[in-house]
Amino acid sequence: MSTLSIPANRGATMPDTEAMGKDQESQSSWLEKHQIDPNSRIRLQKLSHMRYQHPNLDEIHQFMLDFGLRVAHKTEGEVWYTGYGPDQYVYYARKGDKKFLGGVYEAASQEDFDRAAHLPNAGPVQELKDAPGGGRLVTITDPEGFPFNVIHGQEAVDMSQKQPAMDKVVLNFPSEKPRVRQFNRFEHGPAAVYKLGHFGLCTQQFESQLNFYTSTFNIIPTDFVYVEVDGHRTPVTVFMHLDLGTEPVDHHSFFLSAHPKAAHVHHSSFEVHDFDAQQLGHQWLVEKGYRPAWGVGRHVLGSQIFDYWWDVSGNMVEHYADGDLVNSETPIGYVPAGEDSLAVWGPKLPAEFLA
Ligand SMILES: [Fe+2]
Repeated sequence: MSTLSIPANRGATMPDTEAMGKDQESQSSWLEKHQIDPNSRIRLQKLSHMRYQHPNLDEIHQFMLDFGLRVAHKTEGEVWYTGYGPDQYVYYARKGDKKFLGGVYEAASQEDFDRAAHLPNAGPVQELKDAPGGGRLVTITDPEGFPFNVIHGQEAVDMSQKQPAMDKVVLNFPSEKPRVRQFNRFEHGPAAVYKLGHFGLCTQQFESQLNFYTSTFNIIPTDFVYVEVDGHRTPVTVFMHLDLGTEPVDHHSFFLSAHPKAAHVHHSSFEVHDFDAQQLGHQWLVEKGYRPAWGVGRHVLGSQIFDYWWDVSGNMVEHYADGDLVNSETPIGYVPAGEDSLAVWGPKLPAEFLA
């Protein structure tokens, strides 16, 4: 009975320099250490969409609708799915054997696209004749054999054709109650996807993959997760963002994670409006009988509220809300690996999440 209270949990919003902890370094120092000239990199402007091949387009179609995507355009063997954000589409599905066709970034200029198209492992430039917004796409094979795509020349979206933006739900707090005689009501349904936020690869060639992506493109580390053996640190995961100078960008749009058994895509992740939309979307997917992978919870690195699912072809996809933003002044953080580095709250991490 000597203890009179237990320190309560708490949350706080703090500067990136503080949140990263003591173990941090500047992005410019990291670039210098790795002998990367930031001005020589091919510039990517934003993450565009994911590309997957599925054996059964009808089955994946139903899943995509329940996941909160809608059809932008379809042909006999291809479907382009869109969110309510300013992208022509965020997911491309093609009929065929189960296959990961890669993530797609938009080049910052024609010159950057041309440079990507002339990389040693670049395939032929494809004219995207049937795709909404058109444009041209090139697929580069990375050192481990993963496809990585760059798009350019896509027409801007006519936002008047999109579904309206979501309302901002007003929240009351104990000491701050802006919502007086204003009630919160919700409608059931899938969590509408706004945009593609990130994707990541499990790699058996962590160092060479990291070197390829960060020296070829303006992709730069945000955080490293490492394991320490005999005082020596080995990075096992790196979250990376697009280096657009001082312009705010998502904490990560791409990540690499060392995997002892096999190289494969880990997941792709789509942004939804807020926590309520995400929970309602989770409930919707549960009711439809789909297989949850992990969630709902909150990540530490990136701060996102996450919710991972298996699609009907066996690919992992994620809904996220409330992610961090960074820029070139955000320090790179170094964090020891462990369950604590993955989530601050949420269900226990299932073994298959890291499988
Ligand atoms: Fe994620």
